[in-house]
Amino acid sequence: MCGIIGRIGTGNSVPYIIKGLERLEYRGYDSAGVATMKNREIFRVRSIGKLNFLKEKLAEIKPEGELSIGHTRWATHGKPSTENSHPHMSFDGKFAIVHNGIIENAAFLKEKYFEGEEIFKTETDSEVIAHLLAKFYSGNIIGTIKKVTKMLEGSYALGIICKHFPSLLFCTANKSPLVAAMGENGGFIASDPGAIGEFCGEYITVRRCEIAMMSKTKLKVYDGNLRVTDKKNHPVITGGQEYSKGDFEHYMMYEMMQQPKAVEDTLSYLFNGENINGINLPNDYFKNKIKKVLFIACGSAYHVGAVGAILIEKLCRIDAAAIIASEFRYSSPVIDESTLAVFISQSGETADTLAALRKAREMGAKILSVVNVKSSAIDLESDNVLYTRAGKEVSVATTKVYSAQLTVIYALALHIAKCRESLCNDDLEKYKNELFSLPQKIEETINKTKRKTQELAKKIYKNNDIYYIGRQLSFAVSMEAALKMKEISYIHCESYAAGELKHGTISLIEDGTPVIAIAGSDNIFQKTMSNLSEVKARGAKTILITNEEQKEDGEIDEIIKVPTTLPEFFASLSVIPCQFLGYYTAYLRGCDIDKPKNLAKSVTVE
Ligand code: AGP
Repeated sequence: MCGIIGRIGTGNSVPYIIKGLERLEYRGYDSAGVATMKNREIFRVRSIGKLNFLKEKLAEIKPEGELSIGHTRWATHGKPSTENSHPHMSFDGKFAIVHNGIIENAAFLKEKYFEGEEIFKTETDSEVIAHLLAKFYSGNIIGTIKKVTKMLEGSYALGIICKHFPSLLFCTANKSPLVAAMGENGGFIASDPGAIGEFCGEYITVRRCEIAMMSKTKLKVYDGNLRVTDKKNHPVITGGQEYSKGDFEHYMMYEMMQQPKAVEDTLSYLFNGENINGINLPNDYFKNKIKKVLFIACGSAYHVGAVGAILIEKLCRIDAAAIIASEFRYSSPVIDESTLAVFISQSGETADTLAALRKAREMGAKILSVVNVKSSAIDLESDNVLYTRAGKEVSVATTKVYSAQLTVIYALALHIAKCRESLCNDDLEKYKNELFSLPQKIEETINKTKRKTQELAKKIYKNNDIYYIGRQLSFAVSMEAALKMKEISYIHCESYAAGELKHGTISLIEDGTPVIAIAGSDNIFQKTMSNLSEVKARGAKTILITNEEQKEDGEIDEIIKVPTTLPEFFASLSVIPCQFLGYYTAYLRGCDIDKPKNLAKSVTVE
């Protein structure tokens, strides 16, 4: 997933491009580049590494032009390098393009149209688009863009500038996010409205092979059949404000500290009337028609779904499962309108989750999504949307949105249980009251465990392997705990069902291997303790994350206690020390906490 941006306007567009790239860097930061048009010449500057390296080059070269495009890259085809950086130029130097997506038939197109020609300078799939535009240019630029993009298989959001049209900015998209906007500062395109929110108050989406053409003052959109079409304007939600991290060194710490507020704001939004805000399905659907709930997502969002599946079965007494989106989309699921398919996504742009949503819809499932970014692709394609109200999350490792997503899942489970009368009113009341106590308990958990996790990090940050174990809901938490640790500290971590460890993986336990068990006060607590004893007997450093009422146990080397809550909500508290432990461990290892290597905040490619 990459970030693209473009501007056509009075004055030098390059500073706008850089500002926009700063807000798009979360989409990938392997390399970055800018192309700008001046006196009918295209001038390009590119650099490997994070945006700062490009900014240093630009400060020296000082390119200018009213028409510019920019790109920040997460490498898919072709290693991170200056040569593979976008923008890409056509062989005749007349076209420059920036691309987000994957062209699956790039090799075929190279072979078919450019066999034997020594024009390719990169290992990327994107470069072929620039050459095809030059090869098929007919004088009709819109027709040329249409002709070329019809050849492409896969996904694309394209920004295009052309020497034949030095005052026009072109863009087109299919299956990759792209917005266009006309403001007093000129015309803009971007992968995400937040990148241009400072310059424009409203934007349109460019999707499904539409082509947009912009001058300094006019925006025209052609639909898939090249008919001029009107598009609905959306207000830019995250307009321009600097994404603050307060006084904290990293966005991740700032966002972890925001969790109580993120959960509180989400609860206030969800419970502002009789029903849960965002659910349009009638209560009767939940009472008499629904037979199955599927939670479909990626990464941390999938881990939230794993919690949801257990709770739906337990509280609503219907079949439920959590499925990784990239698996679901190629599976043969047995679903129909009695299936509620729940898509969880912070960005609302994750390609696999979006593709899975489209598949579920085709199969007749009812669609409900949990997103943090309004007007994102998943938001726009869902019939029921439950928003997390966590605010902008910048750090690649999700924390406050993960916690807010859990809150939404709890509220959904209670709503379904209420419709199905699978819980008595007293129990519903008990759960709802505890749910509303979570913001304060999360705050307490942070205050009680932050220092302890900082100390514990000093004891494990040099390890090469860490194991997280748990049962049922705590197994789901252990998945999130392991991901938080490995994605920012680069230590190999595994999450394991505690009862499964002895079926093979326990052979990997060596002297001093940290094994972190997550177990609350429930009927399976002692089972997990037995699993800790098994690894202790093999030399492991045993660490337990549990709640306050548990007694100390000589077998355990380190114990972290969180406030007591209902077992069904233990995930919301036990995950907190796991987040901080990952942060402090990564900090001691000198890792780039907010922009871990090889990652990006929004995975808009398969
Ligand atoms: C989690 O810390 C990661 N950033 C990643 O696993 C993320 O949760 C996943 O890519 C899903 O993203 P989404 O919620 O935007 O769909």
